[in-house]
Amino acid sequence: MRSVIDIVDLTVEEIDALIATANDINDNPAKYAEKCKGKKIATLFFEPSTRTRLSFEAAMLELGGSVIGFSSASSSSASKGESVADTSKVISCYADIIAMRHYQEGAPYVASVNASIPVINAGDGGHCHPTQTLADLLTISRENGRLDNLTVGFCGDLKYGRTVHSLINALSRYKNIKIVLISPEELKLPKYVKDEVLDRCNMQYVEVCEMEDVMPQLDVLYMTRVQGERFADQNEYLRLRDRYILTPDKLVNAKKELSILHPLPRVNEISVKIDDDPRACYFKQVKNGKLMRMALILKLLEEAKNPVKVDRISGDVVKGKFVCPNHRCITTTEQELEQAFKYDKDNNVYRCIYCETEAR
Ligand code: NCD
Repeated sequence: MRSVIDIVDLTVEEIDALIATANDINDNPAKYAEKCKGKKIATLFFEPSTRTRLSFEAAMLELGGSVIGFSSASSSSASKGESVADTSKVISCYADIIAMRHYQEGAPYVASVNASIPVINAGDGGHCHPTQTLADLLTISRENGRLDNLTVGFCGDLKYGRTVHSLINALSRYKNIKIVLISPEELKLPKYVKDEVLDRCNMQYVEVCEMEDVMPQLDVLYMTRVQGERFADQNEYLRLRDRYILTPDKLVNAKKELSILHPLPRVNEISVKIDDDPRACYFKQVKNGKLMRMALILKLLEEAKNPVKVDRISGDVVKGKFVCPNHRCITTTEQELEQAFKYDKDNNVYRCIYCETEAR
């Protein structure tokens, strides 16, 4: 069964086709209004979300389908201790497709292995968020008119920001992309993303602390919220959260064609004074997210008619040799889930197949 857990589960050609479908849905909504008649999506949200959950639900409703689900772990059987595997098997009897958000990294992958219907990762801990990336890619392609030859700045929390990790991963497959990483020392991009994506793909990148220094070069500026919920030390969060605030004066030297993106929610990172600037794209990005989710639901339900067995983890998997050191990994809580690692030959390390953390 085909699921989308990581943005690299989709090829560039498939992403281009999803963009074309999303543009067509935007232009001809009536053509799609009954495409999912009789189908149900289950939105299983073990972590709070407004936008992403409602976006999946609106997407399915606009395709003529219906929605079941829950919006927090406390309102599901997880609060009774049910495993992700069992929840996915149960939901497979009720729905046709699952969108899952979970605070534990690798949970949607475990769901996809156990469900008999497609699973879409709607965000797992600090790990991945592929459908936000689809929204981001549609926005860049519409606003900048291309997905190659771009200088893309990421500003804010590059350590815990899963949308950043997924978008960098996606951009690594387009030509001539330069990445500018703007963050404080404490919130730099994790080493595994640098090793696995930037270095492996030979992408040009720089790391800086101030956005003013790089503003004139940027075609896209991707602002992010500091992810307070993932900090072990709340004082550290309070110290860092207002580190970058985009105000009109900071855009004085920016390009006229710059696109300013933000996955939202915004917590002060962009002044509301920017909202009327033609370069502000974050509310368009929300609509684009719904269009891309519609295109993805259509694609996965179509493919589910003739399911083929897909193994996301190719190559040898090593079991029983390492323990994942990541305390947010699904292996820390899931019943009888065996530790499993794959060899990353580019960096000569073993990585957890669920959350990609390096074995020690
Ligand atoms: C992002 C997320 O959930 O990771 N939001 C979203 O998908 N709309 C970003 C965030 O929460 O900061």
